[in-house]
Amino acid sequence: MSAKKVWKGRFSKPTAPEMEAFSHSLEIDRRLYREDIQVNRAWAQALAQIGLLKARERDAILKGLDQIEKELEGGKFPFLPTDEDIHTAIERRLTEQVGPAGAKIHTGRSRNDQVITDLLLYLRRATEELITGIRRLQEVTVQRAEEHSEVLMPGYTHLQQAQPILFSHYALSLFWLLERDRQRLMAAQRRCGLMPLGSGALAGSGFPIDRHFLSEVLGFEEPSPNSLDATAHRDVPIEVAFAAALLLIHLSRYAADLILWASHEFGFVTIDEAYATGSSMMPQKRNPDSLELIRGKAAAAIGHLTALMSLCHGLPHGYNRDLQEDKRPLFAILDDARSSLEIFTRVWQTLDIQPEAMIQALDPDLLATELADYLTHRGMPFRKAHEIAGQIIRWSKSHNVPLTEIPLSTLRTFSYLFDEDLRHWLDFRAALERRSLYGGTGPEAVREQLEKAKQLLSQTTPEPESPEL
Ligand code: ARG
Repeated sequence: MSAKKVWKGRFSKPTAPEMEAFSHSLEIDRRLYREDIQVNRAWAQALAQIGLLKARERDAILKGLDQIEKELEGGKFPFLPTDEDIHTAIERRLTEQVGPAGAKIHTGRSRNDQVITDLLLYLRRATEELITGIRRLQEVTVQRAEEHSEVLMPGYTHLQQAQPILFSHYALSLFWLLERDRQRLMAAQRRCGLMPLGSGALAGSGFPIDRHFLSEVLGFEEPSPNSLDATAHRDVPIEVAFAAALLLIHLSRYAADLILWASHEFGFVTIDEAYATGSSMMPQKRNPDSLELIRGKAAAAIGHLTALMSLCHGLPHGYNRDLQEDKRPLFAILDDARSSLEIFTRVWQTLDIQPEAMIQALDPDLLATELADYLTHRGMPFRKAHEIAGQIIRWSKSHNVPLTEIPLSTLRTFSYLFDEDLRHWLDFRAALERRSLYGGTGPEAVREQLEKAKQLLSQTTPEPESPEL
């Protein structure tokens, strides 16, 4: 089919069909249709304000756009193989519907300012969804922490048992990480506030369009101050992609914990059957596929983010068609972040936590730091105390006696500072109590932390969707 290209005037022959297929981006960018229609509506009004469209023409265009929106919403829009992208498809359809007035809609604008305007509008919505999703997961972490506020578990570094902690402390560690993800997305969302429309292809529209009006009706903060900057750069989409990819990376770490903890060897948690899968061969299996997929999607997000940044690396100033390739990786990251967040939230909500298994797993060696701290409390320099505690651990290993069962008389051969009260000191709960400083895993401190998290949630109650977004 011979294409009626928007640039056809200058060309004496049609685009090669393989080139058409190659440059086609409709499958990817058709999801921007709502934003594109919104932008077309605003543009028609702005053109009418300066007399480039008669009121009658503007109204016909607005009506035509309503019709097109219905067609698109209902899956009835007659796409043609020659529609290169969503912008040209909508313009083509508009011209079919309203005749010559439709052919005026592209006056003074370029797809270069159109596409980035559409994209920023889309990103404002997409980030809002993620921000709301994060908040929901934060609520779940608080709920689960509250339900199991006193449950003890081994804390790990290097995947080796390190010190006892409260499960609630672990759950809240996710809360604060998510809070930073939320803040980061909010900052990236704010950065979407400069409106590119009216920048034309690079130099600004040739018509005195009221860009402040456009910015206002489209819900932006203000018009972008430099048309070349507005059309040439993709730093804002990259920033959104980074914030979303980092969120995925964070989910992948907590997913990895649960995958490990759901294993037979740990047994700290059981993943709800609704979010686990079986094996086609081994009847006993209950696999944590939901979490593994989140981890896999996080890996893919890093690749997509790299693709996005590479697109801009060394790219000459002004718009280059390379930039059309920004959408595929960007949308992939956003889609994966949204779905992973949802699934992860459900997994956490339905997770069966096994306090007994956590307590069972506590190795007395987790109290080795307490032994050193005990001596330090009695005036020994910590470095020396650490060395003695290390020697006691070595003795306990070679004599096969758990740390908590070494007779006091033996301990006193290492240091005369050891006394009867050591029994109370070498205790998991006591170790926790000693960590009630602000931010520690002590029950008192965790209660305070929980209150702080709840307070933060109450301050960030999601507003009903703000009209301008
Ligand atoms: N589909 C294109 C994109 O996503 C629209 C811009 C085309 N502009 C051009 N000068 N060829 O970037």
